[in-house]
Amino acid sequence: MSRIFVTGGTGFIGRQLTALLLEQGYDVTLLMHHRNYNGPSHPNLSLIRGDIREPSSWEQKLKACDAIIHLAGSISETSLYRYIRYNSEPTQILAEAASRIPRIRQFIFISSLAAAGPSKPGHPLSEYQPANPVSDYGKSKLMAESRLLFSTGDFQKVIIRPPVVYGPGDRSFFKIFHMIHHRIKPVVHHGIQELSLIHVTDLCSMITGLLLNPRLSHDEIFFVNDGTDIHPLKDLFTQLETMMERRAIPVPITRFMMGSTAYLSGLAGTLRGKAPLVNMSKYRELKQAAWCCKSEKILSFLEYRIKYPLEIGLRDTYNWYRRHQWL
Ligand SMILES: NC(=O)c1ccc[n+]([C@@H]2O[C@H](COP(=O)([O-])OP(=O)(O)OC[C@H]3O[C@@H](n4cnc5c(N)ncnc54)[C@H](OP(=O)(O)O)[C@@H]3O)[C@@H](O)[C@H]2O)c1
Repeated sequence: MSRIFVTGGTGFIGRQLTALLLEQGYDVTLLMHHRNYNGPSHPNLSLIRGDIREPSSWEQKLKACDAIIHLAGSISETSLYRYIRYNSEPTQILAEAASRIPRIRQFIFISSLAAAGPSKPGHPLSEYQPANPVSDYGKSKLMAESRLLFSTGDFQKVIIRPPVVYGPGDRSFFKIFHMIHHRIKPVVHHGIQELSLIHVTDLCSMITGLLLNPRLSHDEIFFVNDGTDIHPLKDLFTQLETMMERRAIPVPITRFMMGSTAYLSGLAGTLRGKAPLVNMSKYRELKQAAWCCKSEKILSFLEYRIKYPLEIGLRDTYNWYRRHQWL
């Protein structure tokens, strides 16, 4: 069976992906950075400790691999410089190392919808539209994509741009559950914000569907979502309120409030050298009215049937939070 080199395998998406790869019979070499891998041990799983920025810690192990799935990255930094350092440069370092290894046949990079930028309300983005990132995170992901695409490696390059990913174990989208639990729902853009979403299980199945897929003949970029391109935020809140049996109070948040909070917390974060929850770069993401993409291309290529449409996905996630006493 093919051996897959996984970066970011200790993170939210990476943990589930690693479990699925092992279940499907792949051999996995997982690069652990600071955190340990907390999944069950498996005879086909080889753990190594290292930092992508230091190839000496992993390059030897990469030589025994047939493909790379690169998930490692950072969604929260204080400056564009640091985003480039932790998102764009590691992708380039990994692509350059892979270019020296003829055995490697494919490099799958988990980028982000942020690399493509926001959409216009009612018009989800397709893969064929030019990218226009608005945040430092998005710019660093787009830069990582181009560093991979322009690397000299003779392997196939596949870029996946997920929108918001949610599911068991996730801490980011959990904040929305947490707010509804405390009976608060923020209303931005007068409640007309639109999002694409995907449950982590569907994302991982799509990644493994593309992995060393012989029907992929050239480099490709794919958007992914849960089969519904547009979820109005207000409908999402209503679904959560019904499911959680909580009636939340709408709290209108104006652009001025968002902008000034982002400015002040960004300033404090820069002074402390710690990435804040929101800064001006995150504000540029939050103030957009729509972050939506189409999933037509990947769904028809893989002939994939979504396992977790929104209602089922939210229920699964909520049950997990309750079982683990997060809520
Ligand atoms: N979650 C989402 O909604 C979402 C949406 C779109 C795209 N994505 C992308 O999907 C990827 C995974 O997201 P996630 O939510 O699973 O993130 P996560 O939970 O924060 O995990 C990030 C992983 O990257 C590792 N890592 C960071 N820097 C590293 C380095 N220099 N060398 C080796 N490993 C390093 C981390 O290890 P340590 O913790 O030990 O440092 C961790 O395992 C990211 O690239 C993210 O940008 C996520």
